[in-house]
Amino acid sequence: MTDTDIKKGLAGVVADYTAISKVNPETNSLLYRGYPVQELAESCSFEQVAYLLWHGELPTDDERAEFEKHERSLRPLDERTKKLISALPTSAHPMDVVRTAVSQLGTFDDTLLRPGGVTDANLNEGRAMYLLAQLPAIVAFDQRRRRGEDLVEPRDDLGYAANFLWMTFGEEPHEVVERAFNVSMILYAEHSFNASTFTARVVTSTLADVYSAVTAAIGALKGPLHGGANEAVMEALDEIKTADAAEKWLDDALAEKRKIMGFGHRVYKNGDSRVPTMKQALDTLVEHYDRRDMLELYEALETAMGERKNIKPNLDYPSGPAYNLMGFDTQTFTPLFVAARVAGWTAHIAEQLANNALIRPLSEYNGPDERHVG
Ligand code: SDX
Repeated sequence: MTDTDIKKGLAGVVADYTAISKVNPETNSLLYRGYPVQELAESCSFEQVAYLLWHGELPTDDERAEFEKHERSLRPLDERTKKLISALPTSAHPMDVVRTAVSQLGTFDDTLLRPGGVTDANLNEGRAMYLLAQLPAIVAFDQRRRRGEDLVEPRDDLGYAANFLWMTFGEEPHEVVERAFNVSMILYAEHSFNASTFTARVVTSTLADVYSAVTAAIGALKGPLHGGANEAVMEALDEIKTADAAEKWLDDALAEKRKIMGFGHRVYKNGDSRVPTMKQALDTLVEHYDRRDMLELYEALETAMGERKNIKPNLDYPSGPAYNLMGFDTQTFTPLFVAARVAGWTAHIAEQLANNALIRPLSEYNGPDERHVG
């Protein structure tokens, strides 16, 4: 076996079929169940998109109403979840809090212990909905308690995006903010075999339960080469401060061989299909909050990175400053990604189970030759 036989990072390896989404780097396009993500972001709610990812079709009006009613009914946090989150140190990263809270949700689910309960498709659909409904409340409560604020209970008269913002900030969002947030959730919802989704599929392939797979996926998403990049983008922009400092900051960072967060992608080499849509949403927020300075800084770093390295932004680049303008704490950005991506993760868990094969690749041994003790 030669080095070229080993696919480091599984780059270029096609590991399985999926009917959930198609990432096409040649055309810079992304389809969810056949629909261009831009069209979904323009016309749909996050709930409709979650339905699409799980069921393969957009909901009819009746299906949508039933789905929304179910999601809204599952929003309030259990007392045990409130207690758990309250007991965790505020010095811990919010991703660790989300991971721990989701793991605990699995311990409440007695149906896992039924014969066949782990792999039952109907039960798993219910679990997916439960996680989708609970994650906003977990993320919002965690940000609030870090700010010394009390929990805000969910409202069942608000859609997913408006309720998420309501629970986080304790006030109904302006429609511009609600719309931009809804767009971000749709764009983050699904992206084929990315590292966290693949992690969920690996865990599922052993016939472990949904909560274990999602908990593991959250761990994979935390790293800055994956979901953690959206908060790292904001840290960089905070460090640079103003547009006129961007070029020098970038030259210094590249000279130190630092990775520039929010740029580059394993699959897209000529631009991330989701960036133009998220950039438009960012533009609306810049106007709403009257923050041209943020836009100038954003564009200065993007231009300099294009000139120096010809590397384009990924979705985390516009979403970082967008979440900042909305008022989220920087460390809450990756938990927002979790709340959205759980729709995709759970769709992949169902797809994996429907046609399962244990995921277990080979390795080429390059350690010491056989030797013996004594
Ligand atoms: C997400 O997979 C998905 O679909 C993920 C995602 C999803 O929706 O699930 O799209 C979400 O994770 C987006 C990516 C977020 N990560 C970042 O923004 C971190 C910064 N980006 C890079 O580290 C990098 O671009 C990766 C990790 C995203 C991709 O890495 P690859 O495919 O392993 O490529 P590489 O690191 O080998 O880079 C190839 C070359 C290298 O230069 P050379 O050694 O060939 O000279 O490009 C350079 C890299 O140094 N490069 C960068 C860079 N990205 C690539 N140089 C500086 N800064 C960067 N951001």
